[in-house]
Amino acid sequence: MSPLRIDILTLFPEMFGPLLGTSIPKRAAQKGLVSYHLTNLRDFATDNHKSVDDRPFGGGPGMVMMCQPMFDAVEAIERLDPRPPMRILLSPQGKVFDQRLAEELATKDRLLFIAGHYEGFDQRIIDGLSPIEVSIGDYVLSGGELAAMVIIDSIVRLLPGALGAEEGAADESFADVLLEYPQYTRPREFRGMSVPDILLSGNHQAIADWRIEQRKKRTQERRPDLWQAHQREVTP
Ligand code: ADE
Repeated sequence: MSPLRIDILTLFPEMFGPLLGTSIPKRAAQKGLVSYHLTNLRDFATDNHKSVDDRPFGGGPGMVMMCQPMFDAVEAIERLDPRPPMRILLSPQGKVFDQRLAEELATKDRLLFIAGHYEGFDQRIIDGLSPIEVSIGDYVLSGGELAAMVIIDSIVRLLPGALGAEEGAADESFADVLLEYPQYTRPREFRGMSVPDILLSGNHQAIADWRIEQRKKRTQERRPDLWQAHQREVTP
């Protein structure tokens, strides 16, 4: 399979260095599973001031991302590779990101993340480029960059071969909409707190059963919304 190509259009490409140069995202690129391509939107500004934003028609606070640099940049980026990307525009108005969307995006061969700053995008960017709009949660960031990084991190670790054998993505939280069971490592006792006996029993079946029970209990207590979704999945 050809590696996933991830293009990122941003005014702040330097924000991505630490993510893409560290840990799993870095290793996945070294293994040839993914490649990252950063483009600075500022390079597509055409006036003397290198403008990428302007005041909103109708008045109001803040600045709005302009059409021209955005369209020119997206078209130039897309000419760099024959595969048309899935366009993903980060916005608090978007569909809320979840593990299911991460799994879907991890199957694509090319993704283009469009991060904006300031008060928002000229609506014609959204109407004309028809990206999917994605939010990472109901709070407002100062730009789409952190949201793009969250999404990229969650996608890259799903690429086959990205995680080491001992890391495995399969039985983690949300893989089947239950939260994760509690984990322990050495020592057996720490400041009066002990590891549950069952984990030291060597009885693999009993341990597996205990873990499932813990997952259910946690999910019921902490995330009734996920528990309901799980119930619907197991008893359609
Ligand atoms: N840009 C600003 N806030 C955002 C959010 N919550 N998700 C995605 N992009 C954003």
